[in-house]
Amino acid sequence: MMDKVDWSEWYDLTRAKSPSRLLVEALSYVKDTGKVIDIGGGALKDTRYLLQKGFDVTVIDNSPLLEKEASAINNERLHPFVISFEDFHFPINDYVLASAMQCLSYCEPAHFSRVIIDIKSSLKEGGIFCGQIYDEYDQNSKSLHKTYKTADEIREYLKDMELILFKEEETEEGRTKHWRIYNFIARKK
Ligand SMILES: C[S@@+](CC[C@H](N)C(=O)[O-])C[C@H]1O[C@@H](n2cnc3c(N)ncnc32)[C@H](O)[C@@H]1O
Repeated sequence: MMDKVDWSEWYDLTRAKSPSRLLVEALSYVKDTGKVIDIGGGALKDTRYLLQKGFDVTVIDNSPLLEKEASAINNERLHPFVISFEDFHFPINDYVLASAMQCLSYCEPAHFSRVIIDIKSSLKEGGIFCGQIYDEYDQNSKSLHKTYKTADEIREYLKDMELILFKEEETEEGRTKHWRIYNFIARKK
């Protein structure tokens, strides 16, 4: 599934930004170097940080813009794939970290549960899953999100993991969008 949404404005805004705070916090729980995956990596601000930290980074994103973003980074530890998380064949027991920043709510609802299972299976024992999911807070907000989950639903998805952090946050973009977002960090048992 190739994304038809034009993310170029978002990419220009985020390319040079600092890495996601949640990812930085999650990394403090990752004790090994090794393979990590940046899911829905966008303009690669988090991927760059992970490469700097010495990880071998797979990044998946279904925007064709990924190719250009990745080719601007000359690093043999970077493995980019223009593919949706619904279609990606996640390996089993491979990553020490799976990071899904501001992207899981773009998942097709019919595939959401299976994608979460695939992400969890792709982690090694002790591996860290961090990410964010939106709650449907403002019914009037115009959004590209496809999947919303309540706090209880997210806790249910993560119940086979050790939940290290679960934080609710109100977020606004301009005056028109007002959402509640759930941030989580969980460790595979
Ligand atoms: C809001 S941006 C976040 C990008 C990046 N994680 C960040 O924090 O800057 C959402 C990203 O998810 C990607 N995306 C949306 N739906 C996707 C899907 N089904 N599979 C893979 N990537 C997807 C978009 O192309 C976009 O790069």
